[in-house]
Amino acid sequence: MSTIGEIKNKFDAEVGGCQSTEQAQDLKVRYLGKSGELTALLKGIKDLSPEERPSFGAKVNELRNYIESALQSKLAEMKEQEMQRRLQQEKVDVSLTDVRPWGSLHPVTLVENEICRLMTAMGFEVLSGPEIETDYYNFQALNIPYDHPARDMQDTFYISDGILLRTHTSPMQARLMEKKKPPIKMLCPGKVFRSDSDASHSPVFHQIEALVVDENVTLCDLKGTLEYLASKLFGKSTKVRFRPSFFPFTEPSVEVDLSCSNCGGKGCSLCKGTGWIEVLGAGMVNPFVLENCGIDSSKYNGYAFGIGLERIAMIKYGIPDIRLFYENDARFIKQFGK
Ligand code: PHE
Repeated sequence: MSTIGEIKNKFDAEVGGCQSTEQAQDLKVRYLGKSGELTALLKGIKDLSPEERPSFGAKVNELRNYIESALQSKLAEMKEQEMQRRLQQEKVDVSLTDVRPWGSLHPVTLVENEICRLMTAMGFEVLSGPEIETDYYNFQALNIPYDHPARDMQDTFYISDGILLRTHTSPMQARLMEKKKPPIKMLCPGKVFRSDSDASHSPVFHQIEALVVDENVTLCDLKGTLEYLASKLFGKSTKVRFRPSFFPFTEPSVEVDLSCSNCGGKGCSLCKGTGWIEVLGAGMVNPFVLENCGIDSSKYNGYAFGIGLERIAMIKYGIPDIRLFYENDARFIKQFGK
């Protein structure tokens, strides 16, 4: 019985000095947990005489109830205090008298503007296309018929039969080539949509499509353009590497890597030790696509590429998680202000 009293006194002192919810949780484990003080006390019941047991058990239960309710009110009190502390710290001063705006451009907008600026200087015109697209322009015109397995590469949000949210900006290739005859130098920035979501994939993200169609366009023109773009975006020493790939609307197709701007190509966590970072898909426009759009593929050819803007911004600014772009946290956006 005297131990019960001692435990109660010790508990009272400790709960009195408790400063945070973590400490209160800790007390709960130490007093009420499986290997806590009260469980140990109950284990001792077997050493008592049968007559003593009921009253001892009742006392221990009484203490348990006492501790439980004391901890419950302590936890509530701590939670309230912590909430007050946070409200105090994260308070927004709505009575701000300085009305000058402090807004800054979103990092995706910064990257989009920069690429458009560099490419318009090379003679590209900037167009925009519909975000709600037909199956025809998103897939079929780009040499991806209904049963083509390449459809699996782009998990699609359908609105109704034959109408969908565009999965890439490539439909603008077909829309433009149907209307305009070469020479073509087109740039199309915009939102694209895929049913995909984790630290590096978002259901909405941004791309810029580039398309050049003319006589005698070569893969070297594509590489030269990308090398120039990479050197302007990430610095002169940035190298560009082509890897063979597949897109139904380009032939040959390439996946384009840049030497890692973080480690200079030596290998680091950003490039997963490879020294290279994949940034875009590209290739020579497939003659099927040209013909689909009424362009003579024996006379004209071209190249196209599609850049993911979030990816570029993540590398450029060292942003680890794509979801940060869309949370609208002013502290995140503010870092990109002048
Ligand atoms: N549209 C492709 C994608 O989103 C990228 C691409 C564009 C590839 C142009 C080749 C040419 O994955």
